[in-house]
Amino acid sequence: MTSSEIRKRFLDFFAKRGHAILPSASLVPENDPSVLFNTAGMQPLVPYLMGQKHPLGARLASCQKCVRTGDLEDIGDNRHFSFFEMLGNWSLGDYFKQEAISWSYEFLTSKEEGLGLDPARLAVTLFEGDENAPFDQESKDIWMSLGIPEHRIFALPAEDNWWSPGDNGPCGPCSEMFYDMNGDFLGQEISKESFVEQVKKETFIEIWNDVFMEYEKKDGKVIGKLSQKNVDTGAGLERITAVMQGKNTAYDTDILSGVMEMVKSGSVNYGERSARIITDHLRTATFMIADGVFPSNKDRGYVLRRIIRRAAFRVGQLGLSQESYTQVISAITEKYESIYNIEKNKISEIFNQEVTKFTKTLDAGLKEFEKGVDPFLLATTYGFPIELTEELAKEKGIAIDRADFDVKMKAHQDLSRSGSEQKFKGGLANTNEATVKLHTAHHLLLAALQEVVDKNIHQRGSNITEERLRMDFSFDRKVTPEELQKVETLVNSWIEAKLPVVRREMPREEAEKLGAEMEFGAKYPDIVSVYTIQNTNDEYVSKEFCGGPHVTNTSEIGKFKIQKEEASSAGVRRIKAVIE
Ligand code: GLY
Repeated sequence: MTSSEIRKRFLDFFAKRGHAILPSASLVPENDPSVLFNTAGMQPLVPYLMGQKHPLGARLASCQKCVRTGDLEDIGDNRHFSFFEMLGNWSLGDYFKQEAISWSYEFLTSKEEGLGLDPARLAVTLFEGDENAPFDQESKDIWMSLGIPEHRIFALPAEDNWWSPGDNGPCGPCSEMFYDMNGDFLGQEISKESFVEQVKKETFIEIWNDVFMEYEKKDGKVIGKLSQKNVDTGAGLERITAVMQGKNTAYDTDILSGVMEMVKSGSVNYGERSARIITDHLRTATFMIADGVFPSNKDRGYVLRRIIRRAAFRVGQLGLSQESYTQVISAITEKYESIYNIEKNKISEIFNQEVTKFTKTLDAGLKEFEKGVDPFLLATTYGFPIELTEELAKEKGIAIDRADFDVKMKAHQDLSRSGSEQKFKGGLANTNEATVKLHTAHHLLLAALQEVVDKNIHQRGSNITEERLRMDFSFDRKVTPEELQKVETLVNSWIEAKLPVVRREMPREEAEKLGAEMEFGAKYPDIVSVYTIQNTNDEYVSKEFCGGPHVTNTSEIGKFKIQKEEASSAGVRRIKAVIE
């Protein structure tokens, strides 16, 4: 059965059972700032799962484009894809477990209307129960009534069988279906331990998930029931197709084998993993561009840029010519153009522009790499995605300190959030110098406000450009001109005192004990980086959780000047300051 037929059968099956068929929503969520891309079929439906009425009724089904880029390093194995299509059916407070499970079973096993899979090769899991919800006896009874033997039903904890799209929103216990890939366990009893082991070995493959969404999560905690009982199901088209075509991976199915072949025939030095990464990434980039994403240094655009750069690097490794990968992009668009809206020429054009930009820095970056590996420098000056540095380092047996990189990069991104395209154009050193000075001045400003004005002042926001720093902080009245004058004088006295700026890594608890200033709303890892400045009596002037970079001595900053103090929002003031 081809992937197109599977997609069609699924939608027909649910249409026949009263479901309105939704076209796939754009990869870019319309009204959900919490995610950059749709990562599941249910994402565009969140408001309706929360109780809003859907114009097409209470039974819906779709084949939704999804992107997940949380584990790009795993791409190239059998299972991870940064783009995939998810089949799903939904009940918005309409049917519940009985129908959902029966239809899942029927679609999987029916030869006429579904996939015709052998029931003896299925196994299912369900929720074992915890403080939020009881053991899912109802689902167990339904599966058994359909003929799934008790020894093929496994109860697992929330970690495996509680599904939610994130820390907030609808969620609930789920029941997952697995398929015995090689038929090794036909009719056999399997222990739970052995089943879990086989899932890890990918002999049992998860093919579908029925979520019984009747609960709500807030800040990661289940807070109670929703106003309605929903069903949310998700089945990866890539996985189902692999199962139906008896392949270990979707790269070998009709979805991607043609593209893989093209990559192979265009390669000078073929490598399977690189070919898979190119295939996966070009498909993802194609769909992102088709949905209006443009490579940039921010948010979605940055994800796209990383993906294109990773692909471009592999294209270089395999020695694919521009003509060859342009053909690959054409092959991808042709595969999907009858289902989705894709403009072939636009995609090749954007891809080529981005590759040309990157190729220039790629060569320089590779030379830099040979001299010694500094992931932060490679990322900021040569635009090397960290995964690329990691992979190159791995190939050479060099260890990379990822935590250190993440800390530095986070601070760097805070510094250059103001859209500085320079980040990838090289020439960063100059930009950096000014912003690094302002960054250290920013720490001193906060410390001075606490000393002169009120010790309860804390930072609420920050933005630094080459020209100036801007700090938002909690305070409920205007800071008087006299106070501002004192603050400015104090900062300059610290600068003139030539105080060393010291970075230390320590466990988060230790930094908390030290009373280091935290960024508002930030979550910190177990090991944190703290910058401290001490005066000549060894008393702390400033201590902040911060990834840097900073000057090494306050004397490097120059003369500090406050330009403006104003209200930012209720209870929050804003100061702009420069270095002269
Ligand atoms: N929404 C169910 C799933 O993605 O598995």
